[in-house]
Amino acid sequence: MPLPASAFNALDTYVQDSRQDFEDMLGQLVEVPSISMDPSHKSDIQRCAVMAGQYLQNFGFQVEIVATPGNPVVFGEFHAGDNYPTIAIYNHLDVQPAQEPEWRKDPFTFVIDGDRYDGRGSTDDKGPAMTALFGTKYAIDNGFPVNIKLIWELEEESGSPSFESFIKNNLAKVKADVVAVSDTIWISRGQPAIPYGLRGLQGMTLHLETHATDIHSGTTGGVARNPIGELCKVIAECYDASTGKVKIPGFYKDVKAATAAEIKSFLDSGFTLKKFMAAHKMKSTRKLTTAQALKAIFAMPTFEVHGMVGGYTGPGVKTVIPPRAEAKISMRLVPNMTTSKTFRLAEKFIKSRNKDIKIVRENALEPYLGPFTGPYADAGRRAMEFGFGKKPAFTREGGSIGAVVTMKNYLKVPIVFLGLSLPEHGYHAPNENYDWGQASGGMKMFAKYFAEIADMKS
Ligand code: BES
Ligand code: MN
Ligand code: MN
Repeated sequence: MPLPASAFNALDTYVQDSRQDFEDMLGQLVEVPSISMDPSHKSDIQRCAVMAGQYLQNFGFQVEIVATPGNPVVFGEFHAGDNYPTIAIYNHLDVQPAQEPEWRKDPFTFVIDGDRYDGRGSTDDKGPAMTALFGTKYAIDNGFPVNIKLIWELEEESGSPSFESFIKNNLAKVKADVVAVSDTIWISRGQPAIPYGLRGLQGMTLHLETHATDIHSGTTGGVARNPIGELCKVIAECYDASTGKVKIPGFYKDVKAATAAEIKSFLDSGFTLKKFMAAHKMKSTRKLTTAQALKAIFAMPTFEVHGMVGGYTGPGVKTVIPPRAEAKISMRLVPNMTTSKTFRLAEKFIKSRNKDIKIVRENALEPYLGPFTGPYADAGRRAMEFGFGKKPAFTREGGSIGAVVTMKNYLKVPIVFLGLSLPEHGYHAPNENYDWGQASGGMKMFAKYFAEIADMKS
């Protein structure tokens, strides 16, 4: 029997009454600098896990902080009844570093400014995790016939290196009928999106050392090799930075083109280049039409350089030739590319251009493409519309979430993306933020999704 419409009578009041607690809890969580990429923050990761575990326990969950070879996974379970359907919700609580000079305030001090919440991790992904948690409380308090499992990872931002071992060793524990992932962004405020695809990622660092120490560029210039210059040269051989076109032979060979129906769905999503540029504070872009831009983000691979290390960066110009340099690179992958083949192609090409460059393979995440039809996706559509009063667009996502492919491969159940972040929240950017509008609508969305799942088996 479906849950009666009256199951939602208390929802608006519940959401309004939860605001203070939500803000307190999110604030404390954001103030833990759980940066998984930086080994000096190991104790913060642990502190974050303990705090999150405490939250879950207070909300009525059975909690286990599951150790892995890397960072722990916080796992919570609320068992409502043996024959009820089970939903697992995935979020991550680790965050990106926050050393950008443009932060207007300390990134790990939580600031509430009206409806806006500022701090590293507020939108990626602590805010959505807390939103889901407050959604679960409504379902629990109102006796929804659904079992809920929460999976909170603590090394998503470093490519989920231990997540496979976590899933493999805890298959029975995490088993569910459907997995909801709340770690993606909308098209724009007011335009929800449910993606059905994620790009993969192959990271690598290039290292070049040509001599032992800094040397005078007057005495040695003209003879000495320059490692920064040589890395720049090889990067320019790998891709044309003005068009983005990758020149590594074979790079595009396995790309499965987006279908006409997909392109139409991208175009119907309400995406405009103008809003996109404003949200990301872009002054200009590569020369592209809206349709090309959508394809480039959702359905094409990339080669990007994220950082270069080497040489003199202090005030003025110090006339030395540096001995070594490093480039931090990643390639985004789309179906049917694989990380191993793509890395092999890149490695072979770079070596053929400059045999002295040492190439280190970094995080590897396969691309994901899921179905966007079926009862669980339809339920997701209805839940988003219920929470926000607007039908979601169906698009893919340009970013990557390592855990998703792992869950797909091992759990073999539908995965539905119920993300709550907005482009202007600034994923990975300075002044990252989240807001009450997304949180309050999100709580309603989750409550509705639980009811939808409950109805499905009853
Ligand atoms: N939440 C993002 C994934 C994402 C990005 C979804 C953009 C939708 C749009 C996730 O936290 C993330 O940033 N993933 C990293 C993974 C990488 C560090 C291995 C990414 O995509 O760069
Ligand atoms: Mn994220
Ligand atoms: Mn992220």
